[in-house]
Amino acid sequence: MKVALVGATGMVGEVMLKVLAERNFPITELLLVASERSVGKKLSYKGVEHTIIGLADAVAAKADIAIFSAGGDTSLEWAPKFAEVGTTVIDNSSAWRMDPTKKLVVPEINATELTSEDKIIANPNCSTIQLVMALAPLHKKYQMKRVVISTYQSVSGTGVKAVKQLENEIAGVKGEMAYPYPISRNALPHCDVFMENGYTKEEMKLAREPQKILDDRSFSISATAVRIPTAGGHSESVNVEFHNDFALNEIRGILNDTDGVTVQDNPDTNTYPMPIYAHNKDEVFVGRIRRDETQPNTVNMWIVSDNLRKGAATNAVQIAEYLIKNQLV
Ligand SMILES: NC(=O)c1ccc[n+]([C@@H]2O[C@H](COP(=O)([O-])OP(=O)(O)OC[C@H]3O[C@@H](n4cnc5c(N)ncnc54)[C@H](OP(=O)(O)O)[C@@H]3O)[C@@H](O)[C@H]2O)c1
Repeated sequence: MKVALVGATGMVGEVMLKVLAERNFPITELLLVASERSVGKKLSYKGVEHTIIGLADAVAAKADIAIFSAGGDTSLEWAPKFAEVGTTVIDNSSAWRMDPTKKLVVPEINATELTSEDKIIANPNCSTIQLVMALAPLHKKYQMKRVVISTYQSVSGTGVKAVKQLENEIAGVKGEMAYPYPISRNALPHCDVFMENGYTKEEMKLAREPQKILDDRSFSISATAVRIPTAGGHSESVNVEFHNDFALNEIRGILNDTDGVTVQDNPDTNTYPMPIYAHNKDEVFVGRIRRDETQPNTVNMWIVSDNLRKGAATNAVQIAEYLIKNQLV
């Protein structure tokens, strides 16, 4: 496969290179693409140096697959240009996710929707991916009615500028701010921009993307998204009300049997998921599974995953692998 990586110099791009190498993705030619600021710089993949090129050159190279992690505006402008020359785009930004003509894919859940006609495929939001990985098998069994979620999201979810802000604050150095307030020793109830309804865009992604991925609008999700000073890994406190009752051990069993999900749940041994231990792993970790004693058919749980791996790079690479395996590119 001739593969273009758009946004190769970013936080997601860096992990993408790592994941492609680890999974031995079948690459015959790799095009590393970034903004004009980075053109001519070098990055290495599997020990071989590659020179960063610009978007127009990458379109002209007619790659088989282009994985975009370069922000919504770049995707909106450039993904159609890649698609026009026959390149299949897998896009990590929010640009195409809710477009009814584009598929929003978590391979373990809905990759079978993909066809060779899909030239722009959307990768869901990082906090959505880890949420639906845990909710999908439970929804199938017990039918979700309503989900209430609060997130605890790392600065790596915002990109390189935010990681630098946290590092600067810890070191006591003045520098460029990615957030309107300090993030070290703080918690910002503000991920992405505010919308007219008072929610942030991140909260609305969490409310809407799962319905599209599960192809079901019969349940509702209400979210509060909070940025905390962890370097990597998003955590989520999730309260799920089902139509049908459950046994806690059955829930643990279903999650344990789900590909890509690992249960870490034993209060006796202080076992529960934490972002620091999810780092560099592809699994979605679930723990603190307990019955909500205030309401029937309702469970509380804590879901953690590395936002740059399953939340971005790994999911996108899994989509690409599915396309190849099923001869859709
Ligand atoms: N961080 C996460 O956890 C996460 C998870 C899921 C999805 N995403 C999405 O992935 C995308 C990248 O996020 P990130 O965290 O990696 O951001 P980042 O660290 O700020 O990196 C941004 C990347 O985009 C490139 N870029 C920016 N403007 C460009 C332009 N006009 N033309 C070409 N390339 C351009 C940058 O190139 P230069 O180095 O040349 O500026 C850099 O490679 C965003 O759309 C984000 O929403 C992020």
